[in-house]
Parts: sequence; C-alpha cells; structure tokens
Amino acid sequence: MSLYDGQDKTPLYDAIVRYANENKISFHTPGHKHGKGISKSFRQFVGEKVFRLDLSVMSEVDSLHEPSTVIKEAQVLAAKAYGADYSFFLVNGTTGGNQAMILSVCDPGDKIIIPRNAHKSVISAVILAGAEPVYIMPKIDETSDLILNLTPDQVDEACRRHPDAKAVLVTSPTYFGLTADLEAIAEIVHQHDKMLLVDEAHGAHLHFHPAFPKSAIDSGADMCVQSTHKHLAALSQGSMLHVKGVRVDILRLKTTLQMLQTTSPSYIILGSLDISRYQMVHGGEMALEEVIKICEEARGEINKIPGLSCLTREQVKKLPGIDLDVTKLTVSTKGLSYSGYDMAKILNSEYGIQTEMSDFQNILLFVSIGNTAKDLKKFVAALKKIVVDYKDLFLNQKKRKRIVFPTFVPRKELNPREALTKLTRKIPFKRSVGKVCAEIICPYPPGIPVLCPGEVVTQEIYNYLMSVLDSGARINGQSDGRLQTIKVLEDTPASSTGEKKLFAIG
Ligand SMILES: Cc1ncc(COP(=O)(O)O)c(C=O)c1O
Repeated sequence: MSLYDGQDKTPLYDAIVRYANENKISFHTPGHKHGKGISKSFRQFVGEKVFRLDLSVMSEVDSLHEPSTVIKEAQVLAAKAYGADYSFFLVNGTTGGNQAMILSVCDPGDKIIIPRNAHKSVISAVILAGAEPVYIMPKIDETSDLILNLTPDQVDEACRRHPDAKAVLVTSPTYFGLTADLEAIAEIVHQHDKMLLVDEAHGAHLHFHPAFPKSAIDSGADMCVQSTHKHLAALSQGSMLHVKGVRVDILRLKTTLQMLQTTSPSYIILGSLDISRYQMVHGGEMALEEVIKICEEARGEINKIPGLSCLTREQVKKLPGIDLDVTKLTVSTKGLSYSGYDMAKILNSEYGIQTEMSDFQNILLFVSIGNTAKDLKKFVAALKKIVVDYKDLFLNQKKRKRIVFPTFVPRKELNPREALTKLTRKIPFKRSVGKVCAEIICPYPPGIPVLCPGEVVTQEIYNYLMSVLDSGARINGQSDGRLQTIKVLEDTPASSTGEKKLFAIG
C-alpha cells in the first residue's frame, strides 16, 4: 500500500461544489446568500460561482472544529501526503498556526528557544502564552548582509544553557529561502528531551521534490506550520499544521486551535487546501521540476549581468549547516549605484513586474507553479535593460546607506507579556535610547521584530530603525506608524499605582 493510496479524491472540495450545485434556499450565514445579495460590481468582476462556494458550517460540508466527515477525510489525506501523523487545516495563515503550536506547548513562564529573527506571529504567540523567550541570533552573511539560519551547534549550546526550556522553534526556510539543517537540529533537540517546532511558512512545497532541502516533518520535527498559500496554490490565509510522533499533546493542540480559529471558516480557503494537496500528489514533482529549472536558468542569466548577482545554492552550501530553496531568487544590486528599493520600483512602474520584497541592496522573487519560463525571461530581459538604461544614474543616494539587522539580542528587562501589563508612556523616538520598549517594532516585510516589549532601546537599534525609516520601508506593530514617538515603560512599576495595561500593543 502506498502513501498516495486514496489520494485521487478531493472530499472537501467535492462536497462544497456538490452543495453549491444544489441551489438550496439559504436562511443561514453568510448574508450574501450564495452571492444573490452581493454588490453588482463585485459579481460582475468575479462571476457568480465563487459566491456559491462561500458556505456556512453545515452537515453536508462538515465542521472545522469538530471534523467528522469531509474535512476529517481531507485532513487525513493531507497528513498522508506530507508524511505526517496529523494535519490540521488553518484559515488564519501560518500566523494562527504558529500561535496554536506555541500555545499548545508552553504554559505561562515556560522557556522556549527561538531565533531572534522569528516572524512577529511567533513573538505574538510567546506573548499570548506568557512564555519566556530565549533568543538565539543567527549569523549574518558578510557578503549579502542576509540573516542566515540557526546552526546545530547554536541550538545545542542553547539547549545546554537552558535545560528547562520546553521547546525549540526554528524558522526554516527563512523569507529568503535559507534552510537550517533540521535533521541534525531535530536529533539534538530530542536528545535534550525537548520538542522541535518549525515555522515552515515558506516550505509547503519542499516535501514534493527530492532536489529541495528536506521538509521539517521529513527531518524529524514534532510539529510544523506551512503557508500553503505562499508557495503552493491555496488561497490567501490557507495554511496547514502538521504533527509527527508522540511528543505532541493532540488534545491540547485541538483545543488551542478551536480557541484561535474563527467559528465561520471560509470554505473556499478550506477547499483550496484540499485541492492544493491533490495538485502536489498528482504531478507536483513534475511541476516543481519545471519551477526549479526556470529558476536555475534565470539565476545563471542574472549572474552574467554586470553589476547584479543572484544568490546560488553552491554559495549558500559553503556556509556550514545552511542550504537554499532555489525557488527564491535574491538579486543583489550591490554592484550598482542604486538600491533594491529603486530596482523594485523601476521593475514595477516600467515593466509591470511586482517583486515579493526589496531592501537596500536586494530584491526578492518568489517563484512557484503559477509562474512560467516566459515570466522569468521577461524579468531577466528587464534587468538587462535596466542596468543599461540606469547606468549613469545615481538614484536615491540616501537609500544606498548600508543597513544591517542588529547583530545582537537586545537586553531584556522584562518578559514581553509582563511588559504589556505595565504602565506606559509615549516619548519622542529620538529620546528612547536606554528606555524599555513597550510595543513590537517590526519592519515589514519581512515581519521580523527589531524590538519586543520589555527590551531596552540601544543606540545601534535606534540607528538601524532610523535607517529603515529613511529608506522608505514600512515599520508596523507600534502605536505611531511613523515612529516619531514610541511607547516605553513608565519608571514606576504598575503595581504601585494599581493600574494595569494588558496587551497595550499599538
Ligand atoms: C517566516 C514567516 N512565518 C510566518 C509568517 C506568517 O504567515 P501567514 O501570512 O501565512 O500568516 C510569515 C509571513 O510572511 C513568515 O515570513
């Protein structure tokens, strides 16, 4: 019997289509009643069928919170396809999945080891759980200025120093596609009798092609969360949480998911998760083979363009314990007179090419089964033309300043959740050095917090954030969008005034 037995079915997707075709009279939510009440312009643009799939919890389409028929079946098929013991469909992206993973493992006060460059959903989960974060700072690559990934040695050292930590969370791949050696890390974490949780938001495709770095579940992780919507073809917000092995308390995880997920999940998103799994099982490897091929061809072409370079797997593999998902194209503009921001702007306005993100010296492209060789040819041709057309131009010199993520973990005065219960005040950002931050300060993308509640603002962090603002990037999470002011802790402890400000995030 193969793992793919029964995988020719799409039980959940079939059920919602079947229901939509029955044209029943709706006296239930959603209020648009199969689209009949939807605005005309909306319907004209997207057509009417999609609204007929936007259903409510009914016996014909099962319930996400108590799955017993088609959702249960679809989740079992997903688990088999991914080599997991259990899979759970998520409708609030990997954000909700990271929160569920951490809340199902950590009690208030429990330590959890996490990389300092974790996504803000991990930090918010730590705050919600009342856990104690122990940060490890991954190294930064001198050439590309990219934040690398955790190495097995770093994880081992952290586990030794914190034998009481409950779990280790690793982000792999990172936003830029850099993966950690999860097999070695899983072995170390388990030797230390802890759980390995993986934020695999950027890795839903890895399991389906042998040329990719191994997926988290295949490497021995206990739990992972993947944004099926980011690199496969599910709709936005569609993610999956996978579990393998005996360390995870499944009942607690299910209860946590019920607490975090909406009681009105989108059946269109859920159906798209079922279909995405089917797509990968049937022809996924071949489709991904083509994605790898077009990415590697484009990479080769870009590396021939004077002034530009595109990160290669060979380059990355020279760094111990790090590998690369080649479907991420990181193109450095370091050899040119303009920044990644400038390059992204020109690509967008002059060539109609939208990148995933840009920073002061890179642009980042996500390539998936939705892209074609033609897309990449157009991209490479645009790059070739831009380097010629803009050869003598010195755009936005201000943005050329080197901006490197702070390389140390800020001093923590208070646990982040505790910091949110204290009295705060707003002060001008320029006077914040030495004060204890009371909010999350997070440039987006990539959504990696630079300051968390309870951490001390240093001159290096201040300078970094000012450079980020200067470059035109967005910073979010804080109460003042332009960061002219910042919330810091009052020097007087809240307990002495009796006032508490729980969850005072912006
Ligand atoms: C590493 C990482 N984890 C988690 C998330 C959150 O994923 P989602 O958008 O599916 O909620 C992101 C989003 O960019 C991310 O980059």
